Amino acid sequence: MELQKALESRRSTRAFTERKLTRAEIEKLLRAATLAPSACNMQSWYFYVLADEAERAKLKGICADWIASAPVVFIVCTDRNGIVSRFGSRAEKFPVQDTALAMENLLLKAADMGLGGCIIGAYKQEECTKAFNIPENHRIVALLPVGEPAREIPATERKPLAEVSSYIGAVPEDGEADTRKPEAKQTQFRHTSLPAALFEGVNMRDAVFDGVDMSNAAFRDVDMSNAVFGDADFDPGEDENIEEAEGAVNFSGAKFCGVNMATAAFDGAVMTRSRLNHCSLEESVLTDVRMAGAKLYDIDLDGGDLSGVNMVGARIQCSNLYGASVKNCCFAETHLENCDIDGLTIDDVNVKEAIEAYLKAKAE
Ligand SMILES: Cc1cc2nc3c(=O)[nH]c(=O)nc-3n(C[C@H](O)[C@H](O)[C@H](O)COP(=O)(O)O)c2cc1C
Repeated sequence: MELQKALESRRSTRAFTERKLTRAEIEKLLRAATLAPSACNMQSWYFYVLADEAERAKLKGICADWIASAPVVFIVCTDRNGIVSRFGSRAEKFPVQDTALAMENLLLKAADMGLGGCIIGAYKQEECTKAFNIPENHRIVALLPVGEPAREIPATERKPLAEVSSYIGAVPEDGEADTRKPEAKQTQFRHTSLPAALFEGVNMRDAVFDGVDMSNAAFRDVDMSNAVFGDADFDPGEDENIEEAEGAVNFSGAKFCGVNMATAAFDGAVMTRSRLNHCSLEESVLTDVRMAGAKLYDIDLDGGDLSGVNMVGARIQCSNLYGASVKNCCFAETHLENCDIDGLTIDDVNVKEAIEAYLKAKAE
């Protein structure tokens, strides 16, 4: 049930049907009660549950007769000693406040479950304590009968707000409350054609590119970190614009899936922690690219040129590196798995813990 509906439909209920409440239902009510805030989170409440008819019969003479007719009566107590001994007399009101909040939560949960209840302050304190052997540290603050309402109960009147509240100082009127700048919305390009586009000094963090044609696009000082590219086309084709792209794009943390980067040039791009899945980098030129920690899965690098690429700690899985040329790259600690590296030209590359280990494992 929506909170507003529960607030509006709750009624102090004083007549109940015969329907009993199961342990699971009782525990839902108790759970709601104990979700209430409490001073220092000391949860100074304690609930004795009278679901047993014979036990409820002991309420006779202690409170109004109708109370025992509820299928469940909670004896709501406060463990006053704990909180007051910790904070002294200034905490006197805390246990009462804690239990009041817990009871309201319980009543709202009851409304949510189609049940009703009533806080009872009129009961004989001493007799009630004795009848149920309530220990000294638990002081009863209220009784709380709960059950299925026997009939509809009209809402009680509420005093107008002006009678029970007033403002001390100014108050913002409607529309004046939120002075924060609206948060930037995520940039999304879907099934768009952006050929020969020039992205310059653009912040495209977290942007989404899905099914976008970016062939011939040029990137200069663009932040595309954590962007997601799906089925995008970065192929510059004939009209390459490597120079324009130089030292440009920050792709760190970006995800590329099904992206065609064939013959694309990412010169000086930062691709740390980026993920490339099912991408074609065929004949693409990656110069001085930082891909440390990147994950490359099912990549086609056939004929690609990786020069000065730093792939420290990268993972390359199920990729075709056939015929690719790898020069002055650092692949230290790179993890290669199921890659086709036949015909791969490795020149001046730090392959200590990567390609050598891979070849050795393959030979075994
Ligand atoms: C602290 C407290 C003590 C109450 N004690 C009694 C009580 O002894 N007997 C009773 O019939 N109702 C009792 N009530 C219920 C109120 O009469 C009831 O909340 C009030 O009339 C408003 O009606 P509503 O709860 O249906 O909105 C008590 C409520 C509170 C909060």
